[in-house]
Amino acid sequence: MSVERAAAVAERFRELYGAEPEGVWAAPGRVNLIGEHTDYNDGFVMPFALPHTAVAAVSRRDDGVLRLHSADIDGEAGGVVELRVDDLAPETDRNWTAYPSGVVWALRQAGHQVTGADIHLASTVPAGAGLSSSAALEVVVALALNDLYELGQKGWQLARLCQRAENVYVGAPVGIMDQTASACCEAGHALFLDTRDLSQQQIPFDLAAEGMRLLVVDTQVKHSHSEGEYGKRRAGCEKGAALLGVDALRDVAYDELDAALERLGDDEEVRRLVRHVVTEDQRVERVVALLEAGETRAIGPVLTQGHASLRDDFRISCPELDLVVDTALAGGALGARMTGGGFGGSAIVLAEAADVETITKAVEEAFGAAGFIAPRVFEAVPAAGARRLS
Ligand code: GLA
Repeated sequence: MSVERAAAVAERFRELYGAEPEGVWAAPGRVNLIGEHTDYNDGFVMPFALPHTAVAAVSRRDDGVLRLHSADIDGEAGGVVELRVDDLAPETDRNWTAYPSGVVWALRQAGHQVTGADIHLASTVPAGAGLSSSAALEVVVALALNDLYELGQKGWQLARLCQRAENVYVGAPVGIMDQTASACCEAGHALFLDTRDLSQQQIPFDLAAEGMRLLVVDTQVKHSHSEGEYGKRRAGCEKGAALLGVDALRDVAYDELDAALERLGDDEEVRRLVRHVVTEDQRVERVVALLEAGETRAIGPVLTQGHASLRDDFRISCPELDLVVDTALAGGALGARMTGGGFGGSAIVLAEAADVETITKAVEEAFGAAGFIAPRVFEAVPAAGARRLS
């Protein structure tokens, strides 16, 4: 994170609001290495933070006014939005402002005395790309207000508040992974997170040292979680847990999966969802074990199995994501999978450093040949979680 970027965001704040901000904060987007659609089933996930961040310049106010501005909306044509903290109410806002306002609402609902703020936001996390641009916006605002109002909340507690903002205020039934990743990840590590109790383990993940790379391929197919399909999958998983008499699918033991599927009888839809979630939890634990054993290359096939499960059982892939995976594997990738909520967004590709160029070219050509919009390909190295910049 460059000092220049923080200074530029502070400068824009001064132009907009006529005073210095009290501080500048950053919160990253993420990719998920493995553990998809497990977080609302109390399961395991393993995201890491991207170098792309949402940056916020913020000052407190004591008059109940919340002023919001984003550098990223309509080339700034959106202007400053002025709200009153007392008027904030769930599901009344369909714009980007719902994310920062939702955080203020959630903090106040939790009893924290937040009496207003001036906020200017600028993000480099691509929106709608499955890289948690909304979580980055939420977490950066939560962290700034936590510091300024001295609320004393830890990263995981802020993540919970941000999830509540998104579930209740925005109205998107997401899990806890993205907010926790943005708040708690550490540079050079992937975060092994148990979403049941939010216990965490930072797993060293330095691919370059071993001659490998991780590519993110943004298919540019936009998705949104407030639309129905994500919620349908979640409801299906909850139905599965209820039918099996467990609190969450996390409670189905790996070696009891076959028996559990049998008990679900001919409800094929629920059987497929359950099979994905239980095997995906197992894949996360497998990846952790392999990384701890120093067998990094061996995680490749596990990632690829994860993709097949999301495509065939969970049914949330799309032709563009499948094309990335198939083309990358044909080009020699060690493993590849879609990442994030699905129905578009991004895929990740694990590859030998020497193969990166060939694979990138092959994916770009395959997209061209299929008549898809050109994908955006970049290399991802685990970056730092949310922090104060100045
Ligand atoms: C989205 C949600 C997360 C998680 C993933 C799928 O990113 O925000 O909570 O459910 O999808 O793993």
